[in-house]
Amino acid sequence: MKDYWIKRYKREGRKMFATGGKQEKLLEISKNNLSHLFAEAGINKVKNLIDYGCGYGRLEPFLHEYAEHIIGVDLLMGIVDFDIYDFVTYISTEEFFKKDFNVDVIVTYTVMQHVVSKNDFYKIMEKFYKSLKNGGYYIGVEHINPHFKVPPYMNNFSVEDYEKAFGKKILYKTEMLTYEKGHPHIGFIFKKE
Ligand SMILES: C[S@@+](CC[C@H](N)C(=O)[O-])C[C@H]1O[C@@H](n2cnc3c(N)ncnc32)[C@H](O)[C@@H]1O
Repeated sequence: MKDYWIKRYKREGRKMFATGGKQEKLLEISKNNLSHLFAEAGINKVKNLIDYGCGYGRLEPFLHEYAEHIIGVDLLMGIVDFDIYDFVTYISTEEFFKKDFNVDVIVTYTVMQHVVSKNDFYKIMEKFYKSLKNGGYYIGVEHINPHFKVPPYMNNFSVEDYEKAFGKKILYKTEMLTYEKGHPHIGFIFKKE
């Protein structure tokens, strides 16, 4: 799917990372959604957080309110013009899989919904589990609806798929705010215990 994202980035530029409306409005919605989930998990400020599928770094200033240091991971390393901050280290997906991590929080914001191969989905979720400290949280905002007819660049995984792949039950889940109606996203929290 990397080719798909490269093509789309060349065609749409930064707009492709969060689609469906005005960018400022979308950022507000994303922040509200994540604030809700951080509050629910009881996260105030942690040491380190992985933003997996970070895009160009749209969410990093906001995530920095909750984490001292952020590791941004994306498929498009070397292709995207990332926003640079001294509290973010950007790494490629290859590096992510090679290195060991022990972080407090992992976030995915509309990323896992684009991992179309079930094998890759499992590989990533298992790596999330390994990369978290005991007591750490994986927080996702994703399209999860096995009955929705998705385009080829999206998957149709269910909550049970997420639970099986992460190896734990979802601690909390709720419908999130979206700009477009009819395309609901679910916000959820996993805890590694
Ligand atoms: C809809 S964008 C969301 C970007 C960012 N989370 C945000 O909210 O601004 C999806 C992102 O996931 C990345 N992506 C897709 N598949 C991925 C994978 N298997 N591993 C890592 N990143 C991936 C894409 O390159 C893209 O940056």
